[in-house]
Amino acid sequence: MNQPKAIEQLIEVLDTGFDEPAKTINVLASYLLDDHIVPEHEVSIIDRIHELFAEVAIVSGFDGAEEWKSDVQASSGMAISVNEAARCLLDYRRTGQFFRGFHRAILAAKERFPGETIEILYAGCGPYAPFFTLIAPLFTPSEVQFTLIEINEDSLAIARMLVREMGLGGYLSDSHQADATLIKVPSADRYHVLFTETMDTALEREPMVSILLNLLPQLRKDVLLVPRNVTVEGVFFREKDLSNGMDGLWDLDNKDEGHSLGIVMDLDEALTTYLSLPSVPDDDIFHELQLEMPDPSWREYFALFTTVEIWDGVFLYKNESDITDLRVRKLDDLPACDYINFEYALTDEPMLWFGVS
Ligand SMILES: C[S@@+](CC[C@H](N)C(=O)[O-])C[C@H]1O[C@@H](n2cnc3c(N)ncnc32)[C@H](O)[C@@H]1O
Repeated sequence: MNQPKAIEQLIEVLDTGFDEPAKTINVLASYLLDDHIVPEHEVSIIDRIHELFAEVAIVSGFDGAEEWKSDVQASSGMAISVNEAARCLLDYRRTGQFFRGFHRAILAAKERFPGETIEILYAGCGPYAPFFTLIAPLFTPSEVQFTLIEINEDSLAIARMLVREMGLGGYLSDSHQADATLIKVPSADRYHVLFTETMDTALEREPMVSILLNLLPQLRKDVLLVPRNVTVEGVFFREKDLSNGMDGLWDLDNKDEGHSLGIVMDLDEALTTYLSLPSVPDDDIFHELQLEMPDPSWREYFALFTTVEIWDGVFLYKNESDITDLRVRKLDDLPACDYINFEYALTDEPMLWFGVS
């Protein structure tokens, strides 16, 4: 079968009506499982799913009630608004890769815990709860059960309504309107999988680190975490080596090579280190690192490249999505220095801060 052609035909057929949105969404989602999906098809399918979600959930992400535009402060980090969370669906590569990676993770959980119903804790579901509403129908309710946690009251109410309207109530064990950085999860040891996409690039702004620090110690040791890891690499660039100037660094196929410091933050390693500390540090510092500065000729631009490993072999690389967008700074007036220092603190607005000494 010519797969791309089949997808085009499918989109054409599905373009004709809104009669059975839940069924249409399920068929469309199943096409996203293809690891070799052509980007344009991924975009068309997700756009169509978004139209159907917007129709059923009455939230498009672009209009609606005034309070749907407001972020909510979590104990550390900001939970994005109803509208911004809805628009995350349209971060196409992110949605596609998380969908495929999460599906693989559930299959891995079924192998690791044979014969058990896989209990999934989904922290930060947003109004569409897409990693429930799109994934659950690929299994039966005796294979997977979900519990939702969402801090934003409206997002959770809309997600619950969408679940009901799509006839997916049989997959929903429980739902909590709560701050996932603080909640004490009832019967926490029953969960096999923890899923959360509560991050921005370089783990800035959103509360994923604090969510994991709260939830992981409550869950069983062998819980499967999706995404599996997030790493941030630090790279210096020189103006003369940039073939298209600094803007070229955002090109997906950019091959400009800089001077890499290597990984300056590895979430999995940092979590393990922090969670093994005998007590919580007073200064709220989650991760810090000091590295030698390169030769002064390299000190013109400094970039942070974020990579997300969702599951075995399923990655989001730099610039492929909003959550792996490049961060780059021109290093004007840098003082004489020997070291670059990195620090990630659990503040209201967490970010990987760097300075020199
Ligand atoms: C980036 S959006 C993702 C929404 C949806 N899961 C998706 O992937 O499209 C993150 C969601 O997590 C929620 N969230 C962020 N911090 C939270 C917290 N501390 N506790 C509970 N929910 C949180 C936000 O309100 C938002 O709905």
